[in-house]
Amino acid sequence: MTRVSVNKFEDWRTEARALLDAGTAPHEADFVDARSGQAALDLVPDPGPRPAAVTRVPRKFLDLAGMVSCFRDPNRWNLLYRILWRITHGEQHLLADHIDDDVEKFRTMEKAVRRDIHKMRAFVRFREVNTGAGLEYVAWHRPDHLIVEANAPFFVRRFGSMRWAILTPDESAYWDLKELRFGPGMPRSAAPGDDELEDLWRTYYGSIFNPARANLRAMRAEMPVRHWATLPETQIINDLLRNAGSRTISMVKEQPGSARLWIPERPTLPAMKDAVQGCEGCDLYKIATQAVFGEGPRGAAVVMVGEQPGDQEDQDGRPFVGPAGKLLDRALKDAGIDRDEVYVTNAVKHFSFEERGKRRIHKKPTGPQISACRPWLEAELGLIKPEVVVCLGATAALSLAGRDVRIQKDRGRFMDTRWAKRLLITTHPSALLRMPDRSLFDEQYAQLVNDLAMVAEFVQRKSA
Ligand code: URA
Ligand code: SF4
Repeated sequence: MTRVSVNKFEDWRTEARALLDAGTAPHEADFVDARSGQAALDLVPDPGPRPAAVTRVPRKFLDLAGMVSCFRDPNRWNLLYRILWRITHGEQHLLADHIDDDVEKFRTMEKAVRRDIHKMRAFVRFREVNTGAGLEYVAWHRPDHLIVEANAPFFVRRFGSMRWAILTPDESAYWDLKELRFGPGMPRSAAPGDDELEDLWRTYYGSIFNPARANLRAMRAEMPVRHWATLPETQIINDLLRNAGSRTISMVKEQPGSARLWIPERPTLPAMKDAVQGCEGCDLYKIATQAVFGEGPRGAAVVMVGEQPGDQEDQDGRPFVGPAGKLLDRALKDAGIDRDEVYVTNAVKHFSFEERGKRRIHKKPTGPQISACRPWLEAELGLIKPEVVVCLGATAALSLAGRDVRIQKDRGRFMDTRWAKRLLITTHPSALLRMPDRSLFDEQYAQLVNDLAMVAEFVQRKSA
């Protein structure tokens, strides 16, 4: 019998590959869970560096196995090895066999871990703690499974712009704005308790409270009772329920998705630029390389709003740097506007595309995606308070003027808006790049420059 002590999934992976290559059958191997405190002392000595693995392990299995490895049961390592052995010894499609005992256990564990991960995302509550070295946020949570490491990157994406610690009885995670670190588990008493900061925190929670969860019965069913102790929102739930009517209405209007939950509590342009990387307000974050936030001075008199990042913007992480951006630069210059003094952004912050072969073809964002992303744009405009907001093309116009505009009909005249003294709709530079011939291009380009010159004149008159 070969005994192997395993602490983490990576350990198991290395050891399992070595055993597999050595032809060690599952009944000849015993994985001992180092974390459960049962690690035996008569372990085989570390044999030193191992030869590169020769057996191919399917990627799909490894992904699922990573999930299952978080399940709180010292026997999971042996189960994983047994399944791996079977998959690589003639049962490639084992995981599709839903009546197999091993597979059933594996699936049950996987599901439990996924639920627990989801629960942690929904129920972790940070408390503000002033440590003297600045604000920190601390949360205490008791997950059912060993999910802290697997789940921590989510919290980095979601709360990347604040310094935080998530303490759990098994393990703790720390984010210092640069690096994610893990440390030992902490008892409940290590986390901050009731104090005056609680009020602040409650107000925050009230403000992002999701009335869908104000259904007490559903909450109890969804949440093991022991979580209730860590949720001060249960103390204010009656207040919230009283207001839930109007909140529900405004939330429903924002369905199916909204970026609202990802907007930082104290929105500044840099904080939002960080936070937008964690946004999951609609599906677009799943395929894009990164979110592309607006760029330009906080005090800009003019905000230009495009549609969404293009292929190049998606890769560079900056708005209007591709072909449309070059054309915009030229038009701004011809209109007498310095691009460096303009704040440039988009109605939708993630690139929407379709893959055709190797190429990524721009895909128009849908109405729900545009409304899901609007909170970012509104927050940008709310901070900058420009003199003029320029909508480049129909998507920006739809987002800010709120209706279906016909560019050719509605372009080139000032309109009222709550975001600036004036709103102006004009052609998107990408549309010019698609003009079928030179004379049409010239005509449209002249109109674009003309529209931008109106903006320049308005701003100059205001500042004169
Ligand atoms: N088109 C847009 O609308 N925005 C960009 O950032 C680039 C191209
Ligand atoms: Fe969030 Fe907007 Fe990206 Fe959708 S497109 S995930 S709403 S930032």
